[in-house]
Amino acid sequence: MPSSSAESATTVSTPGSPPAPAEQPAWWRDAVFYEIYLRSFADGNGDGVGDLAGVRARLPYLRDLGVDALWLSPFYPSPMVDHGYDVADPRDVEPVFGDLAEFDRLLADAHRLGMRMTIDVVPNHSSDQRRWFRAALAAAPGSPERARYVFRDGSGPGGAEPPNNWPSVFGGPAWQRVPDGQWYLHLFAPEQPDLNWRNPEVAEDAEDTLRFWLDRGVDGFRIDVAMGLFKDPELGDLPTPYTADRRGHGPEDGVLWNRPEVHDVYRSWRQVLDSYPGHRMAVGEVWVRDPGELAAYIRPDELHLAFNFRLLRAEWAAAEMRAVISQTLAACAAVGAPTTWVLSSHDAVRHLSRYGGGDLGRRRARAAALLLLGLPGPVYLYQGEELALPEVDLPDDALQDPVWERSGHTERGRDGCRVPLPWSGGEPPYGFSPTSVRTWLPQPTDWGTLTAQAQDRDGDSMLGLYRRALRARRELGGSDFRWLEGPPDALIWRRGDVVCALNFGAAALRLPPGEVLLTSEGLEEGRLPTDSAAWVRSAPAAP
Ligand code: NOJ
Repeated sequence: MPSSSAESATTVSTPGSPPAPAEQPAWWRDAVFYEIYLRSFADGNGDGVGDLAGVRARLPYLRDLGVDALWLSPFYPSPMVDHGYDVADPRDVEPVFGDLAEFDRLLADAHRLGMRMTIDVVPNHSSDQRRWFRAALAAAPGSPERARYVFRDGSGPGGAEPPNNWPSVFGGPAWQRVPDGQWYLHLFAPEQPDLNWRNPEVAEDAEDTLRFWLDRGVDGFRIDVAMGLFKDPELGDLPTPYTADRRGHGPEDGVLWNRPEVHDVYRSWRQVLDSYPGHRMAVGEVWVRDPGELAAYIRPDELHLAFNFRLLRAEWAAAEMRAVISQTLAACAAVGAPTTWVLSSHDAVRHLSRYGGGDLGRRRARAAALLLLGLPGPVYLYQGEELALPEVDLPDDALQDPVWERSGHTERGRDGCRVPLPWSGGEPPYGFSPTSVRTWLPQPTDWGTLTAQAQDRDGDSMLGLYRRALRARRELGGSDFRWLEGPPDALIWRRGDVVCALNFGAAALRLPPGEVLLTSEGLEEGRLPTDSAAWVRSAPAAP
């Protein structure tokens, strides 16, 4: 690594914030959010499924971890075909998870402990058990009830074929036939019919949902399938059907997803959010091809944040990560928005396993934590990454993700990253449930060393590293970021007075002179070994 006097930088500066509607600084611009996948976080009532009471009991753990805000996965009444992303009533609480009073208590306690609370909204589709959809099935073709969804006549003789060749993300066709012969669109499971966003009633109802939760005091929303909602009105065939893992990255882009009309929805939602005090915010789950398209969702009058999934998809390689970071920082800066970093979620193979698993994956995941938390802008952590949880290879008969059935057992789905968290003790349920029960997905028998309790007092554990990094992150310089020169297999960047470095190469890397704030592994004669990262306080050279 060069000394600071040799700094030659690619500077990516973030322009000042757009004018804030309220007096406080916009907290979300560099917040650390923690994703709670509710079924798998903590079980309060002993049925083996996580719930709101379980989260409330564990809030002190989250405060001690040092996160600023929580993102709660859907907790609304749901038949659970897609584990809550099939919403039967967007303005109530699923009894398995609690009730509205329990939600209010959770929100109040989170606020009392200094954490913001954001929640999922699912505007693209509903459950087939939503009152609206049942009414649509009971009504005739062409009725106002059917106009809330996307019903069409079929193609081919007798309309026996689906209206077009669109496939569902979860496998199979995106159309389901109903007894009177019409078909309805479901880009996910058949139990998740797509709503018709060209119907003003659908848009009004979604804003009612936002207001319902904003009035209760939530600080913001994570928008499910935010690049969805509108489909090409022609409903024409795709030139070549795509497969689920190319969501939004092939010929379907602009046809099934990422239509220009969707931006008006977020302009309107922004006005709703801005009409409340305290910088209420929204982050979009936006799967698009390039950073410019991503940035379009976070223009000053649209969403506040959009997940940058390109880092999550990047290989463990300096060049690819450098390119992703530079490109997304530049694209987001051009619209005055921060870049939102994420490495894992309830939809992705846990990054410890993606980066090689075992000791190698753990070592890299430690370094990745300092990468993630060392970048400017908000970060989303996924529950369990702070405990070094790996992806779990579950037996076939335990799998519950609809992807497993819909793909004809060719794709195992996302259950492996959703296994209930280990909190304490040496055997399942590891304190996840208050009594000894079968958890909704089975936990491995060798997680005794990964529990929060086992890692709590060990500053070198993954939990210890995350806690220290979250504390030290407060010292990194705002939105300031610049690359420093170094070997091609290293990433070295400056944040104010702090230099951050991640060494992907085999040779140990020389660190700049200064106070070492944090390292993911022990240094070797003052140098940074392979697959490790460090933060060093080192004043920039005088100009
Ligand atoms: C994205 C969610 O994160 C995922 O879990 C869900 O299956 C789909 N959207 C459909 O709602």
